[in-house]
Amino acid sequence: MRKNVIAGNWKMYKTQMEASEFLQGFMPQLEDTLPDRDIILCVPYTDLFAMSQNLHGSSIRLGAQNVHWEAFGAYTGEISAPMLTEMGVRYVIVGHSERRQYFGETDETVNMRLKASQNAGLTPILCVGETKQQRDMNETESIICDQLKGGLANIDQTNLIIAYEPIWAIGTGDTCAAKEANQVIGLIRSQLKNADVSIQYGGSVKPDNVDEIMAQPEIDGALVGGASLQPDSFARIVNYQ
Ligand code: G3P
Repeated sequence: MRKNVIAGNWKMYKTQMEASEFLQGFMPQLEDTLPDRDIILCVPYTDLFAMSQNLHGSSIRLGAQNVHWEAFGAYTGEISAPMLTEMGVRYVIVGHSERRQYFGETDETVNMRLKASQNAGLTPILCVGETKQQRDMNETESIICDQLKGGLANIDQTNLIIAYEPIWAIGTGDTCAAKEANQVIGLIRSQLKNADVSIQYGGSVKPDNVDEIMAQPEIDGALVGGASLQPDSFARIVNYQ
């Protein structure tokens, strides 16, 4: 049974103080019962400890934005999956296009990070998506299939979320049309072994387009960047109709 999952990806925004202020504005706006959806906040590492304490007892789940593939070792500046789980983190974004673009992430390292996450009991959110140029050259399907094949090699698909994030729609205000996103997500689903994997759409999701996106039959959620930073807009998104 597929579950709807709305996740905020704060990227490199919000100090601990700003994160607490966000919660003060956001929590009172959550509708009382939202049993059909999971809500996750993927915050910077430095916010995790305070967020874990502040979210204790709430229905909001905590996520990180990256994880190393080793459990420990001489990897200066890195954070491992067991370090995250001990802090109450349950989800982690893996293979975001910004990590692929700026930090040399490949399908191979994505695959290792997915394995390490699952071994530690985290649910990874695997991001896939094509550039504008690839889309213009009709390569969306082959790019996505390659990313899935490489990223998911020998990966258990029972503890996994996938996010389709067309790179040209990230932070641009240029949302992928809901029907087009639905079609690509259908393609992603056809490549999976487990029909119950939740697949999100990400890329300029806003209060005014979330209802249409979530009404698409293949789309099980949203991975939200910019609009997850403001309590009012993220509350409107998670309370989608
Ligand atoms: O991971 C979420 C993201 O990349 C989308 O960002 O700002 O377009 O919602 P944004």
